Amino acid sequence: MVDVHPSKLTENVIDLIGKEWMLVSAGDESSFNTMTASWGSIGFFSNQPMVTIFVRQERYTYEFIENSDKFTLTFLGDGYRDALMTLGRNSGRDCDKIAIAGLTPTFTESGNPTFEEGRLVLECRKIFGQMMTAESFVDRECYEKWYGEGHGGLHKIYMGVIENCWIKE
Ligand SMILES: Cc1cc2nc3c(=O)[nH]c(=O)nc-3n(C[C@H](O)[C@H](O)[C@H](O)COP(=O)(O)O)c2cc1C
Repeated sequence: MVDVHPSKLTENVIDLIGKEWMLVSAGDESSFNTMTASWGSIGFFSNQPMVTIFVRQERYTYEFIENSDKFTLTFLGDGYRDALMTLGRNSGRDCDKIAIAGLTPTFTESGNPTFEEGRLVLECRKIFGQMMTAESFVDRECYEKWYGEGHGGLHKIYMGVIENCWIKE
């Protein structure tokens, strides 16, 4: 993997997150977890490149993000749809879903989890975390559509400064 400045990325961020999807991972070598995510953003805040992710409290990964200073976003590229579905439909609480998905965990110099198969990895330092509230939805239809009866709980919003960005050449 080659270390690049995030400003050098030429990806279409909307498709990158919304169509390719990503793995949100946190923890350390002794204990970590990952999950598929397709909601989030990459942008600029606090005069630094940053990401925003949305994680429901019921996810096992939530516990690891809460207990870590950092998290990673791993993009796998073509050919990993089944793995992403496995990691997005099963909980690490119930099975060794990473082994089932056939991915190979690896750890950054700071000890954060990512995967050998990643084609783009962002290592992020948490700078903000806030639960969504029902009242903060200006668009009630959006709230009902995603958080109304029969849906999961509200997301927690995390913002993370991108401290490292690696791409596979
Ligand atoms: C395509 C896709 C996108 C997803 N995006 C998100 C997301 O942005 N936020 C979230 O909280 N869950 C999202 N999920 C659901 C989690 O990946 C899923 O609940 C997963 O099983 C959680 O695993 P865990 O309990 O091991 O953390 C998504 C699932 C899929 C399949």
